[in-house]
Amino acid sequence: MTERIGILTGGGDSPGLNAVIRAVVKAAGRRGWETIGIEDGFEGLLEPPHYRTLEVKDLDGLLFRGGTILGTTNRGVFTAKVGTGGVRRVPETILEQAKRSIESMGLRCLVVVGGDGSLTIAQQLFEYGVPVVGVPKTIDNDLQATDVTFGFDSAVTCAVEALDRLHTTGQSLGRVMVLEVMGRYSGWIAVYAGLAGGADVILIPEMPFNYESILAKVADRRREGKGFTVMIVAEGAHQLGGSYVTQEPAESDREVRLGGIGALVAQEIEHLTGQESRAVVLGYLQRGGMPTPVDRQLCTRFGVSAVEFIAQEWYGCMTTLKNQEICPVPIREAVGKLRTVPPEGELVRTARALGISFGCEIGRRERG
Ligand code: F6P
Repeated sequence: MTERIGILTGGGDSPGLNAVIRAVVKAAGRRGWETIGIEDGFEGLLEPPHYRTLEVKDLDGLLFRGGTILGTTNRGVFTAKVGTGGVRRVPETILEQAKRSIESMGLRCLVVVGGDGSLTIAQQLFEYGVPVVGVPKTIDNDLQATDVTFGFDSAVTCAVEALDRLHTTGQSLGRVMVLEVMGRYSGWIAVYAGLAGGADVILIPEMPFNYESILAKVADRRREGKGFTVMIVAEGAHQLGGSYVTQEPAESDREVRLGGIGALVAQEIEHLTGQESRAVVLGYLQRGGMPTPVDRQLCTRFGVSAVEFIAQEWYGCMTTLKNQEICPVPIREAVGKLRTVPPEGELVRTARALGISFGCEIGRRERG
């Protein structure tokens, strides 16, 4: 009988999902295994399961196509992350349905491609007796177990292009230009893009800001004869003592939607300095579209290694990149531990050596 494995994509989408699917189907096919694609994330595992067989002829152009051909969702009955980071158990009746579906499809193992939320669900399924292997995805790059997640490089590339464009218009009109990027609990996109795109101010969730420090930087630039300032702000950035800016009240069945901090910061700067300020939310442009070459090779390595792990029966593991090498890590050790930007780390020190402000220098100096 032909061996069958399954694959699903969970949570928000990210450039490179299709590249992982392609790599899994190809590598499995070369072992003589069939790959079943589960549709719409974990929801496709509800009875009766929604799935289709993925064949090599379905793979044309997938390496560089954005989104996921399988569909995905970050809500529904499988939600394991709620509010601002809380975890809940998927009800046993749902886990049971998923298990029965996997058995009815005759799957030897399920490959789950997702971020912290989806991998938390994968771990719960594994504890319930379902063989799973994980692949780490999130543009936020905030999983501790791996040096990098796929989608991050594509998101940074998109943010840098936006900064380059804001730079020239901001310079021409002498404005403060604020770019809001994704980054719920971590500021990796903001810091990498800020360094690569020459931002003057970077605001991240890990380093609560105060307006005094931001205004001091804007004033310094004016003194240097630079009438414009470019800022990049992670959606999870907040004032010291303040809280996240959200788009909606927190719901019980999903993580709260963040957004709006960029506009608030721009408004406040204009109000306090009189200098015209504009904000742009980059939003889903960071998640859509083609993966970069860096992400394509990473997705390919992640997909191929997931199939290798199945061959070795390393169930309950996820593939990671550590010091440029692929290595397996138990999913249980990987989830719930976010990797955040160290406020005193090399990246922040490098930025500060260039005079980039993180919007918190003044309080910091006073604290000594
Ligand atoms: O992958 C995480 C993320 O990119 C966050 O930075 C952002 O808060 C979230 O997705 C938004 O996703 P959605 O609006 O699809 O729920």
